[in-house]
Amino acid sequence: MDSYKLARAALFRLPAETAHDLTLKLSSNVPQLAAPWQRPHDPRLSCSVGKTEWRTPIGLAAGLDKNAVALEFFHRLGFGSMECGTITPRPQQGNPLPRMFRYAEEFSLRNSMGFPNLGMEACASKLRTRPQEFPVGVNIGKSKEATPSQALEEYGTLYEKLAPLADWVVVNISSPNTPGLRDLQQEGWLKDLFSILTPLRQKYGKEIFVKLAPDLDDQVLRDLTTTLADLGADGLVATNTTHIPERGVGGVSGRLLRVKGHQKRRVVLEIARDRKLPLVGVGGFEDMNDVFAWWASGGDALQVYTAFVYHGPALLQNLEAGMRGFITRAKLPDIRSFLKLSPLERQKLIGAFGR
Ligand SMILES: Cc1cc2nc3c(=O)[nH]c(=O)nc-3n(C[C@H](O)[C@H](O)[C@H](O)COP(=O)(O)O)c2cc1C
Repeated sequence: MDSYKLARAALFRLPAETAHDLTLKLSSNVPQLAAPWQRPHDPRLSCSVGKTEWRTPIGLAAGLDKNAVALEFFHRLGFGSMECGTITPRPQQGNPLPRMFRYAEEFSLRNSMGFPNLGMEACASKLRTRPQEFPVGVNIGKSKEATPSQALEEYGTLYEKLAPLADWVVVNISSPNTPGLRDLQQEGWLKDLFSILTPLRQKYGKEIFVKLAPDLDDQVLRDLTTTLADLGADGLVATNTTHIPERGVGGVSGRLLRVKGHQKRRVVLEIARDRKLPLVGVGGFEDMNDVFAWWASGGDALQVYTAFVYHGPALLQNLEAGMRGFITRAKLPDIRSFLKLSPLERQKLIGAFGR
């Protein structure tokens, strides 16, 4: 049994958030714990996401290491990149406990965290000492009590403070646990946001991605993608967690999000590919079949959260072995040359060499 499975058996006896905090603390204090899974970087797996070069197409999604305390550990484990955050200007407690729940048989989680985080100053000090070869994005969000117009100011302040220390910035307007946040996914407010962020981007040069919710109608998602492309967003991230009323408050992630996540990403991709807007896929990715489905529909890089909680570092090893085996069988020099192909060409290669 791999050592993560043993640790998981013990951790899963604890409440989900306690297990999470404990693991993160250990990973932060002892990054050498990654040693059993460490392996040399394989440059054939690198890919570009906007202007950033990821070490592999598999990144760690936002929310797992909000305060960027364990960058060294996740770098050693072999993630292609990491998105820290969501970070708000000042420290926040988040919602009352319990606010993180497992559906172990369904390989899923539900959370109603409400952005507990140590604030932008603490995050900045962690980012100042990050391993430079590890690509890191920073996900920013509004404070719980900020009104839409205060939120505009907050996103500007957060960008100015954190963008210089990260490779890219993700504007989070899609978490279900901050009052009014998802209402910001509309044209008028986004116009105002980009009028604030565009001059700052000119100054600091860091790309602006926007993270979207899966709980929007297809047409709303298409319109939003078009609006964001018109406003000059550099990329998108889709999707955040989904609200399933029967399950309770908050957002659900993992296997229960898999089908919806994939369907909504395809809708966003239709427009994003036309507009040459990079789209980072997230939501329900668990194995190489999911990665192939994403690539076949035209997607490139992706992130994981929930599947990593359930499968641990073996998830990354399996995905890497899957990607390496695929390019070898397809006689491709690297993943980058595969991702340059059209969806149709990709589908043919996946059909012939995918398993
Ligand atoms: C406990 C938990 C906390 C999360 N916190 C954040 C967050 O702070 N900001 C954010 O943009 N997404 C957050 N997410 C969403 C993830 O980044 C991701 O979009 C979602 O979980 C779907 O991916 P998955 O199915 O691989 O987990 C969180 C997810 C979980 C499970």
